[in-house]
Amino acid sequence: MKLPLFLVNFKAYPQATGKNAVLLAKKCQRVAKKLNISIIPCVQAADISLVAHKVSIPVFAQHVDTAPGAHTGNIVLTSVISAGAKGTLLNHAERTLSFSTIKQTVAECKKIRFPVVVCASTPKEAKRMASLKPFAVAIEPPELIGTGISVSRANPGIIKKSVALKVPVLCGAGISSKEDVAKALELGAKGVLVASAVVLSGHQEKTIYLLGLGIKNYSCLTSI
Ligand code: G3P
Repeated sequence: MKLPLFLVNFKAYPQATGKNAVLLAKKCQRVAKKLNISIIPCVQAADISLVAHKVSIPVFAQHVDTAPGAHTGNIVLTSVISAGAKGTLLNHAERTLSFSTIKQTVAECKKIRFPVVVCASTPKEAKRMASLKPFAVAIEPPELIGTGISVSRANPGIIKKSVALKVPVLCGAGISSKEDVAKALELGAKGVLVASAVVLSGHQEKTIYLLGLGIKNYSCLTSI
C-alpha cells in the first residue's frame, strides 16, 4: 500500500453489499491499476471473503473486535484476517468505541502487523489516537459525513491541525470531487476516505476515476 491512500468506505449501502460489493471493488481495482494508485475498498464483515477472493487490491474491514469467546456478534480479528482483510478501520463516527477498547485493539493488531486506520472526529481526538501509533489516523468531522460538503474545503483547519502528528493522517467527509481530494493532500493529508460520492454515484467507476485523478495529479506534481 503506497501513500497517498484512497479508501472507499462501502458502509452498509445496498449498492455496495454482496454482489454489488464485488462489482464495486472490481471498479476500484480497474481504476487503481489504470492510475497506479492505492485504492482500498472497506467492506462489511460479511462481504470480506467474497470480495477479497475476487480482487487483488487490499481489502479492509470496517471494524474489528479483539475479544474472542462468548461475545455474540463480535467481528473477530482472526476471522477477518482469514477472510482476506489486509487492514481495518476502527472507531468510525458511525461505529464509535471507548478509548480503552481502541487502545487494546490497536495493540493486538500491531502485534501481528495488521494495519489499523483509527478514525477521529476532532484534532484533539486525532492526537489521542495517534498516541497509540496506529498505521494511520483518519480525521472525519461527523457533521460533514454524507453531505457532499468536503472537509478539505469546509474545514481545512481541522486537517492542518492534525497533519503534524507522528502517524500518517487521512481525512474524509463530504469529499466528492478531484479538487476536494487534491486540496486534502495539499493540506498535508496522506490520503482520503470517501463513501457516498462513490457508492451512490450513477457512474461509480467514472467517479472513482475522477477522484483518483486528484491523487494521481497531486502525486505527479509533488514528485517533480
Ligand atoms: O469513511 C468515510 C465516510 O465517513 C465519509 O462519508 O459519504 O461523506 O464520503 P461520505
